[in-house]
Amino acid sequence: MSLRTTVTLLLATSTLALAGCEQGSSTSGAGGQGGQGGSTTTEPSSGPTFHKDIEPILQKSCQSCHSPGNIAPFALMQYDEAKLVSTLIKEQVQARTMPPWGAFETNECKPKHGFRDDLRLSQSDIDLIAAWHDAGSPEGNPADAPPPIDLKGADLPGKTLEVEPVKPFVSSGDQDQFRCFVMDPGFTKDMFMNGWHFVAGNSKVVHHALLFVDPNAESDALADETGSYECFGGSGVNGDLIGAWAPGGVPFELAPNIGTRLPAGSRLVMQIHYHPAGTTHDPDSTRVQMRFTESPEYQMAFVLLGNFPGLQPNGDGLQPGPNDKAKIEFRIPSNASNHTETMLFTLPSTINGGPMPELFVYGAGTHMHYVGRDMLVEVEHNNLQSPEKGKECLVQTPDWNFAWQRAYAYDAAINDLPRFLPGDVLKMRCTYDNTMNNPYVQKALKDQNLQSPVDVYLGESTLDEMCLAVLPLLYKSQ
Ligand code: HEC
Repeated sequence: MSLRTTVTLLLATSTLALAGCEQGSSTSGAGGQGGQGGSTTTEPSSGPTFHKDIEPILQKSCQSCHSPGNIAPFALMQYDEAKLVSTLIKEQVQARTMPPWGAFETNECKPKHGFRDDLRLSQSDIDLIAAWHDAGSPEGNPADAPPPIDLKGADLPGKTLEVEPVKPFVSSGDQDQFRCFVMDPGFTKDMFMNGWHFVAGNSKVVHHALLFVDPNAESDALADETGSYECFGGSGVNGDLIGAWAPGGVPFELAPNIGTRLPAGSRLVMQIHYHPAGTTHDPDSTRVQMRFTESPEYQMAFVLLGNFPGLQPNGDGLQPGPNDKAKIEFRIPSNASNHTETMLFTLPSTINGGPMPELFVYGAGTHMHYVGRDMLVEVEHNNLQSPEKGKECLVQTPDWNFAWQRAYAYDAAINDLPRFLPGDVLKMRCTYDNTMNNPYVQKALKDQNLQSPVDVYLGESTLDEMCLAVLPLLYKSQ
């Protein structure tokens, strides 16, 4: 993402619902503890069994990735597959590293609303999995199995446009790749995007995808004969993020009165993060489906806020940090394990030459690179008109993982969303671990052929860092 230091509301966007893997809706309905009936002759009749208790959880929260041809390294479709790794399953769900999800309530951060498409397992599902494993992972009676689910992500309802790269792309090798594809949607007038969905081509290699609008068609000049170019972090052009996706992502739909403005003549730039594909030579051709609305009451803009290189005259920007030497600076010393950088931003009273509109915070996400470990975004409501008083935490990702990024949309009506008013102060606090104890640092160093940690600064490259809040905001159309 670009080194953005100010709020821009020039362009609209939609939520980074890198929505995970929710296939069904409700939590494992069949996940009761009761042991009534339904066991094979060899299993005891009480206690959780695979077919009755575990399979529904795997269907709902795991199989969209853990199925043949999908991103996870093994399937969790059949009893034998799950039994084989039941120790790992128990570990991963207890550690809450699977299913992938980053936003947690902590002592420091209790967002007012829950999140949409929340992938997390309930504590009772986690306990059930643990009890099942501890009891020797019994299969139970196949007659108790839930009906199979449809694993193909449904199309975006009401889609009117589908775009894809001019040429399929073959990723191979043992490194992650970040590739930007230039697509011309042929907009002859400004459009208001109201929903989108990504349809992954080769789901074995597509790790996640970001969509940017390129209003000045700058990306045309960057693309090679394949219609694409290499890009890490952002799109490399001046244009906002407008959508994002991760495996298992469901179609992203906004209410009919919300849209993201995409100017006439824009290009769309899709950045795909490819997993190391090894010797695979299957091409990927990931498509984006879109739908539009007319004259929406609210527009959405993805604001990326942070990455301040220094202190600003009004006291905003980079704040003094624990390892500063002669001056305030963004520098994460090599081998510093609990290094923080803190940034402030005061919401201005004017924006783009007009008064700043009331901003509704549709959701929140965080962005760092490989050294980052924890990020917290909060707002202090200093505006006297603010319906909230004092500090309000928007999101915290206490166990940051670069591989699984998304913004988290609040499960709330527009009028109940957190609001930004002029004078409110946003705080971004990023914590970094620049030691070999951080497995992501190990990986990043290896990718760069380095043996030990180096001082890390603000920047766009793999071994640079960021501290960026990702804020899908709504404001009333004028
Ligand atoms: C969004 C996709 C996705 C979902 C949903 C998901 N996984 Fe995974 N899982 C992965 C990927 C990809 C890996 C490979 C490691 C990695 O990239 O983190 C993985 C790895 C694992 C591992 C192996 C970890 C290791 O140490 O080798 C286990 C066990 C696991 N997942 C269990 C689950 C369970 C159980 C669920 C559901 C409760 C689940 N996963 C949901 C994508 C997913």
